[in-house]
Amino acid sequence: MEPAVIAPLVDPYARPITYLRVSVTDRCDFRCVYCMAEHMQFLPKAELLTLEELDRLCTAFVGLGVSKLRITGGEPLVRRGIMGFFRQMSRHLGQGLDELTLTTNGSQLGRFADELAECGVRRVNVSLDTLDEDKFARVTRWGRLPQVLRGIEAAKAAGLRVKINTVALKGFNEDELFDLLAWCAAEDHDLTFIEVMPMGDLEGEDRLGQYWPLSDLRARLAERFTLLDLAERSGGPARYVRLQQTGQKIGFITPLTHNFCESCNRVRLTCTGELYMCLGQEDRADLRRPLRASEDDGLLRDAIREAIALKPKGHDFDYSRQGIGGQMTRHMSHTGG
Ligand code: GTP
Ligand code: 5AD
Ligand code: SF4
Repeated sequence: MEPAVIAPLVDPYARPITYLRVSVTDRCDFRCVYCMAEHMQFLPKAELLTLEELDRLCTAFVGLGVSKLRITGGEPLVRRGIMGFFRQMSRHLGQGLDELTLTTNGSQLGRFADELAECGVRRVNVSLDTLDEDKFARVTRWGRLPQVLRGIEAAKAAGLRVKINTVALKGFNEDELFDLLAWCAAEDHDLTFIEVMPMGDLEGEDRLGQYWPLSDLRARLAERFTLLDLAERSGGPARYVRLQQTGQKIGFITPLTHNFCESCNRVRLTCTGELYMCLGQEDRADLRRPLRASEDDGLLRDAIREAIALKPKGHDFDYSRQGIGGQMTRHMSHTGG
């Protein structure tokens, strides 16, 4: 018998866990330099959970009080059959789930934006670091800007709110700060900047040299605009400001300059059924075994609770020491950021 009222998930630091990020594939049609190696070894397809299994997992989390589900990858829209999965997940909207959304590189939005909107998706986060075609090709290695811009257009036409995620990269998109701002204002997209995190194999790559602290970026903005701090949140780690002169809203995700772990509300599920309790730590739990061990969800729920009880306090990312602190060898694409 299921208990009539299921206790919500709360971690050892009294943080309610209400946000699940689900990486449905480790594959991607791009190879962004800060996310993947150029020649990635992907998981054999046989190791992936089926979409039915991912459905059961997500449904169990919703039953435990998760109200926000973000589908990620790799690139989530390259997983075969993914629209069927969105359609299935949409049944939870209004039944415990408040938001069903995704983070995407935008390349497949042209094909899928309408269907996503039909599934109850209201906004998408799209990664875009530059508006320059050559630079775009360099930073994504395999990506093409026009295709992504068409995807973003399609999302907007489908009535989806678009939030642009821009990783702040020193010497790369510093000179585009105001262009990106103006473009997002003209297109009515939200815009969030992200500090680059030391994830993945950094060999031959100068992550420290790429690091552009958002405290600097903010100071640059403040030379032209008055920044009003906003109390509003989108459920993720971003903190927002409004530019007084234009009314534009800008987000900042600052794992390095301002640690936000104390308000962490999320865990990450991978496409093989591992649950990562923190983006910046190795702690993880295998949910595939309890999932497959029984058709009843009791074992699975126990395993989820045990995992949440082990959620670490936060990451140890740090560029201020001699080397890079808290570096993770795991690629960002493994857990979907
Ligand atoms: P909203 O729902 O729009 O607030 O989205 P979000 O910021 O939760 O999700 P998104 O996928 O757009 O993530 C943006 C960036 O935030 C990515 O680079 C993530 O890796 C990063 N991010 C999200 N959660 C965490 C976290 O718990 N810790 C750290 N360090 N970074 C995170
Ligand atoms: N540091 C910061 N953000 C990253 N992303 C991928 N790798 C990194 C990294 N090393 C971002 C992507 C995407 C989001 C899911 O994570 O640009 O917007
Ligand atoms: Fe693909 Fe996103 Fe990683 Fe770029 S950041 S390689 S688009 S998963």
